[in-house]
This record gives sequence, C-alpha cells and structure tokens, in this order.
Amino acid sequence: MNLRRIAKIAFSSLTSRPYPESPAQGSAPALADALPQGFLLGTATASHQVEGGNDNDWTDWERGAHPDGTPHIKDRTLSGAACDSWNRFDDDLACMKMLGANAYRMSVEWSRLEPSEGAWNEAAADRYLAWATRLREAGITPMVTLHHFTLPRWVATQGGWMSDRTIDLAAAFAGRVARRLGGAVDLWCTINEPNVLMTMGYLKGIWPPGMRDQRIAAGVLARLMKAHARMAGAVHENDKKDADGDGHATRIGIAHHVRIFQPASRSPVDKVVSGFMDALFNQALVDAHLHGRVQLTVPGAVDIDEAVPGLAGSYDYLGINYYGRDHVAADLGDPSLSRQFVPEDRPVSDLGWDIYPEGLYLVLKRYGSLGLPIYVTENGIADRSGMSRPAFLRAHFDALVRAAREGVPVRGYFHWSLLDNFEWAEGFEPRFGLFRVDDDSPDKKRIATPAVETFQEIARQLGLKPEAP
Ligand code: FCB
Repeated sequence: MNLRRIAKIAFSSLTSRPYPESPAQGSAPALADALPQGFLLGTATASHQVEGGNDNDWTDWERGAHPDGTPHIKDRTLSGAACDSWNRFDDDLACMKMLGANAYRMSVEWSRLEPSEGAWNEAAADRYLAWATRLREAGITPMVTLHHFTLPRWVATQGGWMSDRTIDLAAAFAGRVARRLGGAVDLWCTINEPNVLMTMGYLKGIWPPGMRDQRIAAGVLARLMKAHARMAGAVHENDKKDADGDGHATRIGIAHHVRIFQPASRSPVDKVVSGFMDALFNQALVDAHLHGRVQLTVPGAVDIDEAVPGLAGSYDYLGINYYGRDHVAADLGDPSLSRQFVPEDRPVSDLGWDIYPEGLYLVLKRYGSLGLPIYVTENGIADRSGMSRPAFLRAHFDALVRAAREGVPVRGYFHWSLLDNFEWAEGFEPRFGLFRVDDDSPDKKRIATPAVETFQEIARQLGLKPEAP
C-alpha cells in the first residue's frame, strides 16, 4: 500500500473548503468578447445511442437480466432502431444548422467498422467519411470519438477491457479510422468517460459485463488509460492530413466525466471517503496525463502505480463531461466504500441528478491551470417536458463564460444531446435531446424543444447564424 499517497488524499480532503451553493453569476452581454475566436458550440451524440441497427456487447446486454430477475434495461426497451441516425444524417444535419452549431461530437461504432476480427466494412467507413465531409462543408467541425462505451461482440468475448489484448486491438482500430477519416477530421477523442465505464460496468455491475469487483475495476481503468495512450499514438501516426488548414493535423483528447463530490456531513469519515472518490474518479485521469503514470489507490483493495509509455502529455486538450454533483456518505459495505445521493431540497433532473451549474464553473477553474485547452464535451439534462432545459443550458453556459472571463482556456461547449436517444440502462425514458424524436412518425421526425431557442440565442451572441428550418 502506498501510505504516502493515502495520507496525502486523506489530508487534503480533511482540509479542503466546502463547495459553495451560490448560483453561477454573470450572464454575458457580449459572449464573443469573453470566448476565444473559433469557439466551438455544438452538440454531442454517440453511435450506439442514436444510429440504430447496431450489434455489439450492448445489444446482447439489452436482452438480459440481472441475477435477481430485474431487466438490464429499465423499461425493457432495446436500442433497436434508436433515432435511425444511420439513415437520417440529412435530418440530423438540418437540426444542427437550425441550431446554428459550428461543431458536432459524434462517435464511430467499432462493431460496425470491424464486425469480426480483421474484417473491415468499407461501406460503413465511407459513410462516416461522408458525414465528416458534409459537416465540414456546412461549417461544422466534427469531433470524432473512437470508443463510446460499446465493444464489438468479438472483442467482448475475448475479455473486453479485462484483457490486455484489447489495448492492441483498440490501437489498431484507432489507427485505421484515423487513416480513413483523417482527411476530414482533425479533432479526435480517444475514449469516452473511462471512469464511468469502470464504475458502471465493473464496480456497480449495471452495464456490461456486469462485474462488481474493485480490483478488476481498477485494472480496467488502468487498461483504458494505456489504451488511450496507444490510440493517441496511432491517430498521430495515421492522420497527417490537416483538414482545416490550421497547422494541426490532429488534436487528441479524452472525454473525462468530472463530478463534484460533496461530503454529506462534516464527519471526517465522509470527508475522507469523498476525497478518495474524487481522487479515483476525477483526478486519476488528469494526473495520468501529467505524470505518465497510472496511480490508483483504494485503501485495503487497490494499489496500482505504473508508468505507461506515451501517456505523459498525450492530451492536446482535456474534454470535460459535466452533469452535476453527488453528496457522499461513507458506506464501507459498498464496493465504492460510499453511498452517493442528492438531498431532498435540491432541484433535480428527471433522473434525479442534482442541477448544480456552479459545479461547472468550479470544475473548469480546477482544471483551467493545467496548460491545456478545455472543451466541455458533454453537458445536459434529462427533461421529458423540455421546460427545464432552457434555464439549465443558460445557467451552465453562463458558468462556462464566467470561468473563461477568469482566464480558463475553454475552447468549446457540446450540449448532450442533439436528439433524445437510448440512454443505456435507463432505456428511452430519459430525454436529453434539444430535439425530440417522434417514434410514432414513420420518418422519426425531429421536433424542436424550447431549448433550441436558447441554443440559437447563444449561437447568435457568438456570431453564428442559425438557419430557418
Ligand atoms: C454520459 C455519457 C453519454 C450519455 C450522458 C447522459 O455519461 O457519456 O453517453 O449517456 O451521460
């Protein structure tokens, strides 16, 4: 056990100040002055959640149930045709134009491109390339995520992220995609939320492969970091084409989910447990980039400290996915050693997530001094009525602007999500879309929610031009 590291985390959790409740201040009369030239304003999606017709480890998981009989997906829905985005790119592009967006974060589906080991689906690669090209022609910068939670079945059955071989396979895949799409894509995201994948798939067991084991989980996080380093190397090697002529053929980062962990009480135990949550969930990925080492510590269970070649300095930018805050109380019986909850008096989303815009400001300030450009790669709210999203979007964007005014090098904001989509184990019930997808209409009509107007206002303030539908 690394006692020094444990003592350091415990000490800083005991001495840190509580998080403020104050709302994000300072709405921005002249956004264009506060934000840098070329600021990216866009939306984000992920292949499995929107494309439809996928066949991967998740489609298998969707059909199954936990040992106690509860279905893996809450409303028992399958991702199925999802938003049918695979066949409706024109509709999605029209939505982006209507928003006035100048960027789009999308992911490519590994199981589609490489349906079996070594096989390569040229037609699917052509389609992704055509999308990236058309986005660019429309003045929309594509950011392409290479791994957003799903694995091809053939990778999962070989052990998935529990096997070192997956690192090689992911690096080879990344290189191939970079070679194929590099002429239209400069902005890459290797892996979406390694910490969430670890937590949901390997600690809580509610996503595939359904493990609940601290040691396995820590091993998976370490492997994801190694994979990131290898994938970043492969993208650099294979994408030498500078699509937008800004002198950079590639800018590579990771989408890191950062949460505020608020100790539930003044008890030192709650504080220390919150500190370990923060160290493992928030800080480990950032330190990995700074020091080139994967260092993970859970007292009594996990002690990983390993140098990873290619990891130091492997982020050209830090992507931050921010959704809110957890109150944390110690619970030594749980594999995460804690219980996370939202106090009853807090405003929450349809999923019960704490709406805490101040947290985005705090997170941006925290990571603003790393010397890395920052993109908010995801931020959004489950809001079936669509009535809470405008205020949510405005308050979070204000928090971002406030951080930018104070010197944080924030270069973009991607709202999750363009469309209502398949929200993993929660099924289709939660609605995160700026556009609703009408499942009853034969062409899955995209219908604007009230927050489209809010997005358009921000776009106009940035000098962008939303198009009439
Ligand atoms: C993030 C995921 C994204 C989506 C949103 C709501 O953690 O990256 O795919 O599910 O949450």
